[in-house]
Amino acid sequence: MGEQLSTKHLLGIKGLSTEDIQLIFETADEFKDVINRPIKKVPSLRDITIANVFFENSTRTKLSFELAEKRLSADVINFSSSNSSVKKGETLLDTVNNILSMKVDMIVMRHSSPGAPHFLSRHIDANIVNAGDGTHEHPTQALLDTYSIREKLGDVAGKKVAIIGDILHSRVAISNIFALQKLGAEVMVCGPITLLPKYISSLGVKVELDVRKALEWCDVANVLRIQLERQHIKYFPSLREYSLYYGVNKKLLDSLNKEITVMHPGPINRGVELSSDVADSEHAIILDQVENGVAVRMAVLYLLASVSK
Ligand code: CP
Repeated sequence: MGEQLSTKHLLGIKGLSTEDIQLIFETADEFKDVINRPIKKVPSLRDITIANVFFENSTRTKLSFELAEKRLSADVINFSSSNSSVKKGETLLDTVNNILSMKVDMIVMRHSSPGAPHFLSRHIDANIVNAGDGTHEHPTQALLDTYSIREKLGDVAGKKVAIIGDILHSRVAISNIFALQKLGAEVMVCGPITLLPKYISSLGVKVELDVRKALEWCDVANVLRIQLERQHIKYFPSLREYSLYYGVNKKLLDSLNKEITVMHPGPINRGVELSSDVADSEHAIILDQVENGVAVRMAVLYLLASVSK
């Protein structure tokens, strides 16, 4: 593990090189071996303190980062805005500077404002990992998604990946598009026209409105959650109608003349974008994605801590 990342922060996939991603994957391979051993811990970050600073809800990402940090023997503190002095009017920068005064080396942050981690990176010295910034990027999700495709299909290069659902509000979609393209995959987005951003074809992706055609085209379907919490107007008539036209279910998959791999970043709206008989089937690698998330995040934290300041 002698090589280094080209950056001291992980703000987005856009700022990573293909070599950075390959280095993260190779390092994650080694950490995946570690977390499958009876003693799942290494001392790599025992002199490092990491703060998980979450201004937005999370189950997978927060727990996965915390476990990754503990598996690397880092000291960990957790901050949640809902029961903090942010409620008394403290700014993001004041909050983070107070945390850093306690000799914290690295910040893992989720925030509802796109660009919040980029803003922080201009004002603080510690390493920053973006754990999801609004509708902008979710880089570690894209890394664990592409790592899981590599694990399942042997390579990402040359694979056809359809990202299906609420693309408009999805940081997972944007980060996945960048990661998949850097690794040589072909990418299609599919959803109702109201849930596709107007700029999307400028990212070099195919655009499809018919979910059957998208499934017929792809090797992998990454099905996204309908993000009702970010939808302040109606983008489709009802969840029932969305499910009828864009839901991925067993009947639809059985009618294809091939098998495809099904992914979902979670949390799933069961029965809306994905039926339970697909989510729980042997074609779905949803829990493998979660398992791989710990190894991938260990790799990211380990490599960022090794970057020369
Ligand atoms: N995939 C994902 O980001 O899930 P959480 O919101 O639960 O962290």
